[in-house]
Amino acid sequence: MPAPKILVIPGSLRSGSHNARLAALATKELTLAEVDVTRISLEDYPLPLFDADLAASGPPLAAAQLKRMLIAHQGVFITSPEYSASVSPLLKNAIDWISRVREAGEPTYAAFKGRVFALGSASSGTGGGIRSLMALRQILELGCGALVIPEQVAVPRADLAFDDLDDLKDETLAAALKAAVRRLIALAGVMP
Ligand SMILES: Cc1cc2nc3c(=O)[nH]c(=O)nc-3n(C[C@H](O)[C@H](O)[C@H](O)COP(=O)(O)O)c2cc1C
Repeated sequence: MPAPKILVIPGSLRSGSHNARLAALATKELTLAEVDVTRISLEDYPLPLFDADLAASGPPLAAAQLKRMLIAHQGVFITSPEYSASVSPLLKNAIDWISRVREAGEPTYAAFKGRVFALGSASSGTGGGIRSLMALRQILELGCGALVIPEQVAVPRADLAFDDLDDLKDETLAAALKAAVRRLIALAGVMP
């Protein structure tokens, strides 16, 4: 069986983003496991703030491109900053737009239903952004019908959490990331 294709999406565009750093580490772990991994930046998919009237006149090209990226992969790893105890507006906006791109005859939420998702978060706060993961899990599972694995990693005090090689210093957190990556690969490998 060919190696599954995994897409990594950091949910922040901030320079020096902790979630971009966590996404880079997830990409490294996936690469070490010899899967076919692609990391994108939402910067390359500029989207206006979602507006149903705009959507009615046809979703932007970037929304269709993002959806195609998801469809081309069996697994998706998302890292999510926590904003006001929830997901970043960047991530929510992208998910809402992707969910509105629908080819004729295609079932709803096609980009989400056929693949498996793993989640991680990082925050300079002590909670590690875990509330953003709860919100993101709800959006993906209940909102979009996705399969989200239970293994996840939430990195607190992210400004201090990485060493010079950009690995996680804390062994428990490093093990949580590896466990999420392992399960993502295993389930992505059996996706149609
Ligand atoms: C508007 C706003 C709201 C925030 N709310 C929270 C929060 O509820 N919990 C938390 O841990 N951090 C919160 N933060 C801090 C961010 O999670 C933190 O800056 C994080 O590093 C952002 O992710 P990034 O480094 O990947 O850009 C908030 C930041 C902003 C700008």
